[in-house]
Amino acid sequence: MEFKNIILEYEEEIVILKINRPQVLNALNTETILELEKAIDLIKENEKIRVLIITGEGKAFVAGADISEMVNFSPFEAERFSCNGHRLLSKIENLDKVVIAAINGYALGGGCEIALACDIRLMAEDAKIGQPEVKLGIIPGFGGNIRLPKICGSGIAKELIFTGEMIDANEALRIGLVNKIYPREKLLEEAKNLAKKIITRGPLAIKLAKQAINQSLNMSIEQAKEWEIKLFALNFSSKEAKEGLKAFLEKREPNWKKEE
Ligand code: COA
Repeated sequence: MEFKNIILEYEEEIVILKINRPQVLNALNTETILELEKAIDLIKENEKIRVLIITGEGKAFVAGADISEMVNFSPFEAERFSCNGHRLLSKIENLDKVVIAAINGYALGGGCEIALACDIRLMAEDAKIGQPEVKLGIIPGFGGNIRLPKICGSGIAKELIFTGEMIDANEALRIGLVNKIYPREKLLEEAKNLAKKIITRGPLAIKLAKQAINQSLNMSIEQAKEWEIKLFALNFSSKEAKEGLKAFLEKREPNWKKEE
């Protein structure tokens, strides 16, 4: 499939998705959001792919929703735009593959929100992140008000959202918004290294762990424990669990593709 605003690069079990509108710092217009959604659908159907890395072309990750498109929105158009963004980010969040955000530069507004929907966030040392919407007299509309407090706590999220200030990578690391920071020229390589490490682990186990973690965030503690018990049991219906446990006892590396 041909895309105008994104690039997909396949490397064995990894796919790198680059948002590619560098002339506007990869700002998200409706066309790009809909293309991203199609790309995620495509990746979802590709059983070979185990890790998706999302990054930006040029000096930005994504500098937010496209201000030139939003400026004339009616409330109805704003609703549709926000719905499109939410649908895309839910698909990223619930993708049955590991999603790593490689934040190569500005991740503002919708850019920060895309990163929040990813499983793991890595950031370039010189990148900046934030939710600057209130500076434009608007609020985050792609889940920033919802996911940021879950990741960083409500006090930190409110400070970031109410001031609209961007923060640097060290501060993002300190508040737990990103997992690790790297020099910009090493970022993609480090994201791939992390992806390769994850790929050596049990494929089904990772899918189930992602379900356990994501869904437990929306459940009571008791429901989450029950859900984990069910997923733990389900895991044992697979050859993978037998192979992983046996391999340890036989002092060898597991072979997840073994057919017995
Ligand atoms: N929507 C539309 N266009 C955007 C954009 C956005 N969110 N962010 C940047 N651009 C455009 C700029 O208008 C500029 O276009 P031009 O060359 O036609 O003037 C181009 O991208 C380059 O941006 P510029 O502002 O010149 O780069 P900079 O390095 O001086 O500043 C930022 C970078 C990120 C600080 C600045 O672009 C910015 O504040 N962007 C808006 C961030 C924002 O508020 N995002 C949330 C939106 S809800």
